[in-house]
Amino acid sequence: MIRSPEDSFVLHNRVKMPCVGYGTYLEEGEEAYRSVATALRSGYRLIDTASLYKNEKEVGEAVSNFLRAGAAERSDLFITSKLWNADRGYDKTIAAFNKSLETLGLDYLDLYLIHWPANTRQFSPAEAKTLNQETWRALEDIYLSGRVRAIGVSNFLVHHLEDIYETARIEPMVDQIEFHPGWIQADILSYCRKKGIQVEAWSPLGRTTIFENKTICRIAADHGVSVAQVCLRFCLQHDVLPIPKSVHESRMKANLDLFGFTLTAEEMAALDGLANMGGNHDPDTVEF
Ligand SMILES: NC(=O)c1ccc[n+]([C@@H]2O[C@H](COP(=O)([O-])OP(=O)(O)OC[C@H]3O[C@@H](n4cnc5c(N)ncnc54)[C@H](OP(=O)(O)O)[C@@H]3O)[C@@H](O)[C@H]2O)c1
Repeated sequence: MIRSPEDSFVLHNRVKMPCVGYGTYLEEGEEAYRSVATALRSGYRLIDTASLYKNEKEVGEAVSNFLRAGAAERSDLFITSKLWNADRGYDKTIAAFNKSLETLGLDYLDLYLIHWPANTRQFSPAEAKTLNQETWRALEDIYLSGRVRAIGVSNFLVHHLEDIYETARIEPMVDQIEFHPGWIQADILSYCRKKGIQVEAWSPLGRTTIFENKTICRIAADHGVSVAQVCLRFCLQHDVLPIPKSVHESRMKANLDLFGFTLTAEEMAALDGLANMGGNHDPDTVEF
């Protein structure tokens, strides 16, 4: 069990991931630089970006300046980026990884993810499967080259992962999925647990759309914590790694302050049982 912000989740290749990360979606330019620099100063050691976010340059600059100031060693940090959908396929994946690394200004990444599976809305079932397998083959070769410490997927459902396992030489280490009260994707969660895949929660706060929910508010009031803290603690008690995003320093700090309370089994069950509050993307039907 995770007991402090310094604790880690351990991947099946023994690489350790800081137990809470910092998300950077919708942060661009100066705001991205300032927010990541503040997050690092606030104690975050895992930074989540993606080529889609168009902030890899600023994320990399904030990381490099933090290291240059002697505030941490590179090995203390855990930097994730993701392959965008237009770059799927073996050769394009290798090129996209190289570009991300160069834009970030880093020698290596800690985690590289396939952002979304190719799906049958846009491809035939055979094409989608081959594309996902070829993209994974490229991630495996990047991993074997030593330029990334762990590889994984994002938004992959059970059937997408089963396609990967058919041809994989290296099993996925992480699946980053949407996960928050009201949307826990129990089938993929239990599949990943069985397969030794670490689940990461994107939108662990449901982008605040779940903040008015009466059950979550009651639990927060009972513990004297914020609704955001309940959502993040809920992830950790499911052994799911949350990557909340905030541009505000006070919220960044509060989102790391998750270790002074424990949700009871009844509270976890109540949160597990919440109905979907809407706004979820289905990886099988999204058109991006
Ligand atoms: N793999 C994928 O497909 C995928 C998809 C989406 C996101 N992600 C990753 O997951 C990260 C997190 O997800 P997300 O950004 O979509 O949503 P989120 O973290 O669930 O929510 C972010 C929103 O919550 C607000 N917020 C943060 N902390 C708060 C607090 N303590 N109290 C009140 N409001 C708070 C933020 O506002 P302020 O900034 O104004 O504080 C922002 O509007 C992303 O940044 C990205 O790195 C991955």
